[in-house]
Amino acid sequence: MDLTLKIWRQKDSRSKGSFKTYKANGISVDASFLEMLDILNEELVHKGEMPVNFDSDCREGICGACSLYINGRPHGPDTAITICQVHMRNFKDGSTIVIEPWRSKAFPVISDLMVDRSAFDRVIQAGGYVSVSTGGIPDANAILIRKENADEAMDAASCIGCGACVASCKNASAMLFVSAKVSQLALLPQGRVEAKRRVQKMVKQMDNDGFGNCTNTGACEAECPKEIKLTNIARLNREFIGAKLGAQKMKI
Ligand code: SF4
Ligand code: FES
Repeated sequence: MDLTLKIWRQKDSRSKGSFKTYKANGISVDASFLEMLDILNEELVHKGEMPVNFDSDCREGICGACSLYINGRPHGPDTAITICQVHMRNFKDGSTIVIEPWRSKAFPVISDLMVDRSAFDRVIQAGGYVSVSTGGIPDANAILIRKENADEAMDAASCIGCGACVASCKNASAMLFVSAKVSQLALLPQGRVEAKRRVQKMVKQMDNDGFGNCTNTGACEAECPKEIKLTNIARLNREFIGAKLGAQKMKI
């Protein structure tokens, strides 16, 4: 298939970016979207031009490194998959594809399609550690956990920290990400020990890093490749208010 690509090019965070148009001809429908970009980059290098910078690592939908808008949608045209899992059969021969980086003040562009998502790392770091000793495997199994809680905690833990929730939100809110990280521990007895301190510190760091507030548009849930549910945000709010009410006795 032959394609026209309109790709955001930006030298670094201080430079002004713009769209540049490229031709990608003879692309197999079986190629992945990132392989198509690899082919384009090989051609650019052969011509002595700078390749297009973009993030990827596992290319299996596991790590959360890949992060692109394709035709205005985070992670491209399909639902519940990352951009590294998108294949060219999703596009029509002869079509024009617009490729942009995540757009958010908290995720500054490093170069071209690559953004700095270290704000997410700082939120995780602010959450701190889990101090409870889980012991060996038989000990962990001895702690009874309701099936519903175990399932919901596992679902929340599937967040890969890709940032599509922030990129898709008109407020650049990180609430879906933070709520997943809070929920995966708050739902389990092992995570309750530091739960009050954890939720307050993570929310504080989220605000410090310039993420916006949630206004319940649901765009984050619709574009999340791991289908993290908005109910996690409701749990985050409950955990946060509960922690604030009980905070007088705690030194945060
Ligand atoms: S909540 Fe979904 S969209 Fe947001 S970082 Fe996690 S996996 Fe990505
Ligand atoms: S490259 Fe790892 S999830 Fe896409």
